[in-house]
Amino acid sequence: MTELRFRPLALASGLILENRLVVPPMASQTADTEGLATEATLAHYERLTRSGAALVMVEYSFVSLAGRGDPNQLGAHSDDCLPGLTRLAQLLHQQGVKTGLQLTHCGGKASAEISGDLMGPSGIAVPAYDRTLETPRAMTDADIQAWRQDFIGAARRAELAGFDLVEIHCAHGYGLNQWLSPLTNQRQDRYGGSLENRARLLMEIIEGIRLAAPTLEIMVRIPGQDGYPEGLSQSQMKEVARRLVAAGVSLIDVSSGIGGWNRPKSRRGEGYLVEESRALCGQVGAPVIGVGGIESAEYMEQALSEGWLDLAAVGRAILKDPDAFRRQQMLPRALAHQEEPA
Ligand SMILES: Cc1cc2nc3c(=O)[nH]c(=O)nc-3n(C[C@H](O)[C@H](O)[C@H](O)COP(=O)(O)O)c2cc1C
Repeated sequence: MTELRFRPLALASGLILENRLVVPPMASQTADTEGLATEATLAHYERLTRSGAALVMVEYSFVSLAGRGDPNQLGAHSDDCLPGLTRLAQLLHQQGVKTGLQLTHCGGKASAEISGDLMGPSGIAVPAYDRTLETPRAMTDADIQAWRQDFIGAARRAELAGFDLVEIHCAHGYGLNQWLSPLTNQRQDRYGGSLENRARLLMEIIEGIRLAAPTLEIMVRIPGQDGYPEGLSQSQMKEVARRLVAAGVSLIDVSSGIGGWNRPKSRRGEGYLVEESRALCGQVGAPVIGVGGIESAEYMEQALSEGWLDLAAVGRAILKDPDAFRRQQMLPRALAHQEEPA
């Protein structure tokens, strides 16, 4: 019997992932200060394809200058990014993998020095495990409209560049997580209050992308829950995930929320966040990605057979040594590497 991690997975639209391994988005800090991909960016992603993972995600990319969190962050905010993004998507496809671009607005989880304009749903500093963040200004209706258009424009560029999918970053305390979370969204208007209202901007972005970039698969990185009491709960996130799938999202990527992606002190061992994907897997109408310290074939087989996840994302273990990872997993080489000696 084929081991579960080698089994292909077909998404609702027909896009086929050749196995159950995903390289999650990981910021490489290799873009130039305009947000354009460099030779170092291309080399970085070529290296990651050597892991044998079927889906290689490209790191969080800013949708507007005000949404930027890092001076060397990749951008998807302007048509100037298109040549670099196109080369990146082509390179990844030539290596035989499917690929997606993660789109991010950092919102209040940036610094005014880099973004130029620190804003969020409310004037509330975003809690983070590892630092104290500046207090953003509360966004106006015009800002909300601009965010929506910025995400849609960036998704359209991802489609033009040839990516198979976009991932909307709604986790780790970044902008759209701030909108969803009652910790950081205390607005009194139709974008605040109930879960439906707090999810409104995210849903509008999904709807806009479906219309503007109809060939793209849409995946959303969501928190399984926020890392603070009074934040988003697992049951609220199940509700959000179901609504996303009903709106046409074809993959749900489950990570952590307000607090950040780092391992919280209370969570140990391989698969330290997988209890979050486990709470949603098989229950939201689309395949679910789980993440968090996953590295061994044994763990993946167990997680797949027990229904804790449909796809396993492996970050740092692949970043450290993609070739060693592939050998240890007994994965076949990605198409482009099959000619090379083992
Ligand atoms: C260097 C580095 C950069 C990261 N950048 C991103 C990012 O751009 N977007 C994102 O959603 N998560 C990012 N993450 C989190 C990873 O996608 C992943 O969720 C996390 O590393 C846990 O998986 P792991 O234990 O297998 O590494 C990053 C992680 C690392 C180590």
